Amino acid sequence: MESQRATATARLKEASLAATGIRLMRFEILEGTVSTSPGAHLTFEMQLKDGPATRSYSVVDDGMAPELITVAVKLEDPGRGGSRHMWSLEPGDEIKIIESSNSMPVSFDRRNYLVVAGGIGITPMTAIVAALRSSGREVRMVYCARSREHAAFHDRLSSLLGDGLVMHYDAESGFLDVEALVSGVEPGTQVYICGPIGMMNAIKAAWAALGLPAHDLRYETFANSGTERSQPFDVTVVETGRTVHVEAQQTLLDALVKSGHEVMYECLKGECGLCKLEVTQADTGIDHRDVFLSEREKASGESLCACVSRFSGGHAHVRIDGISHGPTG
Ligand code: FES
Repeated sequence: MESQRATATARLKEASLAATGIRLMRFEILEGTVSTSPGAHLTFEMQLKDGPATRSYSVVDDGMAPELITVAVKLEDPGRGGSRHMWSLEPGDEIKIIESSNSMPVSFDRRNYLVVAGGIGITPMTAIVAALRSSGREVRMVYCARSREHAAFHDRLSSLLGDGLVMHYDAESGFLDVEALVSGVEPGTQVYICGPIGMMNAIKAAWAALGLPAHDLRYETFANSGTERSQPFDVTVVETGRTVHVEAQQTLLDALVKSGHEVMYECLKGECGLCKLEVTQADTGIDHRDVFLSEREKASGESLCACVSRFSGGHAHVRIDGISHGPTG
């Protein structure tokens, strides 16, 4: 059950390759309005072979021209079919877009900013960097990509940041030294991060270990990169007593909704917590892929965010209305 949000019908105007595996897609709004801001994402409705589905993609735009919407879509292979659908769209094709909240709004109250992007996490960061630079802020960016061919928006970022852009290619230099990066952050700097869950968790852990202020670390994730390979599993919903099978390429939320269960959701990215379910019983562990639950909550195994997190196979029992949803502080 999706929360009420503005919608628009859009037509794909043009598409191009921004880097290996990343498609840049520009849509023009035909009817309705969806507003965006730097760091925001939008939800796209689509028809997949398993039925209707929604997927969220971060916008590249700064929100100043709401009649045009640009997103970058990474081809997930294997994936759940959403990115493949987006890659199959041709100029002229229409799609419904739903406005989403911005979980990483930019605050302009600092002089210095550090932006860290990994992989497709570069999409919202490109808009954030442009907004910060146009308002005269000092920005340093570390952009981690698998290789030079996988790096998108290099020329745009380079012209915005000059020497402030540090490219890091895993294929050439190995993984980023997160502890060195975090320990070098100057006091008063606000940090924005977006990338794979492993990178995000490492930065958050290093940040906490140094006792740095939590409100100076802002993040968004593309929560499709759990720590384990996705497995099929079964869940029994306590309220209905019905058992639902979840395929490896399907989210728990999709399976529950498809089977007629009502679950609240919004971001579909593991950020808002609206889809949080209570786990009453499970015979395997949980691959937590969200950034909403605290480490303590994740370790307890008592809840999970159904839009991204999943069980590691087996059979579990969940309660949909057993716990309060949304931010818990
Ligand atoms: S819908 Fe936001 S965390 Fe799942």
